[in-house]
Amino acid sequence: MVSLRVKLLGLTFENPLILASGIDDKTPEQWIRAHEEGAGGVVTKSIGVEPREGYDNPTIVELPYGLINAMGLPNPGWKGFLKMVEGYTFDFPLIVSIFGGSGEEFAFLAEKLSDVADAFELNLSCPHAKGYGMEIGQKPENVYEIVRAVKEATDRPVIAKLTPNTDDITRLGLAAERAGADAVSAINTLKAVAIDVYARRPILSNRVGGYSGPGVKPVALRAVYDLARTLEIPVIGIGGITTWRDAVEFLLAGASALQIGTAVSLRGWGVFREISTGIEAYLESEGFSSVEEIVGLALG
Ligand code: SIN
Repeated sequence: MVSLRVKLLGLTFENPLILASGIDDKTPEQWIRAHEEGAGGVVTKSIGVEPREGYDNPTIVELPYGLINAMGLPNPGWKGFLKMVEGYTFDFPLIVSIFGGSGEEFAFLAEKLSDVADAFELNLSCPHAKGYGMEIGQKPENVYEIVRAVKEATDRPVIAKLTPNTDDITRLGLAAERAGADAVSAINTLKAVAIDVYARRPILSNRVGGYSGPGVKPVALRAVYDLARTLEIPVIGIGGITTWRDAVEFLLAGASALQIGTAVSLRGWGVFREISTGIEAYLESEGFSSVEEIVGLALG
C-alpha cells in the first residue's frame, strides 16, 4: 500500500500536490474545486494591504511551451479577503499568499490574516509589480528582514517564495532560512516579454510579464536541486510541473511538496488526479511505500 500523504510545516497534506498562487486561485470556490479534483492543499492568489484592480487586458499570452502573465496582483485587499472567506471552512491546508512593499506591510498582513491561514507564503518574487515582489525579493537582506518581521507577527508557518531572476537563488534561500522561514518555495516566474509582430509592440498591457509552464521546468528543477542541497528547511517545488514524471523529478531533486498552476490553466483541473495517480503507480512499481521516501534521492 503506497502513501501519498505528506507532513510539512506541521500540516498534513493528502498528497504533495498544491494549487499554486497564480491564475486559478482567486476565490474559495476555486480552492474547494482544486481539492475536490485531487489537490492536497491550496495557495491563494497574493493578498495585499489595499484592493488592487490589476492591469488592463491582455494579461496573459499563451506560447507553445507555457504562458506569460502580468495580471498586476489583482486582489480584494486584506479586509475584502476576510469578507470573501466568511462562512467557509476548508478541510485541506489553506496557505495564504501575501505581498507588501516592506517588512511592516508583510507583518501587518500576517497579523490580520493569521486566523484564516494555515500557513503564509510570502510573495518575494512577482517579476513585474512596481515596488513589490522581485523588486525587493532579489536582495538577500530584504528577504531576511521581511521573513523576520513576519515570523515575529505570526505563529503560523512561513514559506518564502523565491525569484529565479537572480544570479544565485541559494543566497535568497539562505537569507530566508537564517531569518526563521519554515520552508522556501521556488520558482516564481521568469521575467519575459512577447511581441506582436503586426502591432509592433509587446502583447501584454504591462509589456513585461512572468513566464511559467513546461518551458521553465528545467530551470525550476535546477533551482530546487541547488536549494535542497544548500538548505536545511524544506523546499517546495514549482515550475512547469505538468506530468507525473515532472513531479517525480522534482521530488527526487529534493522538493518535499509541489505546486501546480499553469498546468491547471492549460489542461484543466484533472491534472491533479492524473499526476497523483502517476506518482502512486511509480512508487508502487519502483518498490517505495511513501512519497517521503523518494524526496532528495537524486541529490547524492
Ligand atoms: C500577477 O498577479 O501579476 C502575478 C503574481 C506573481 O507573479 O507573483
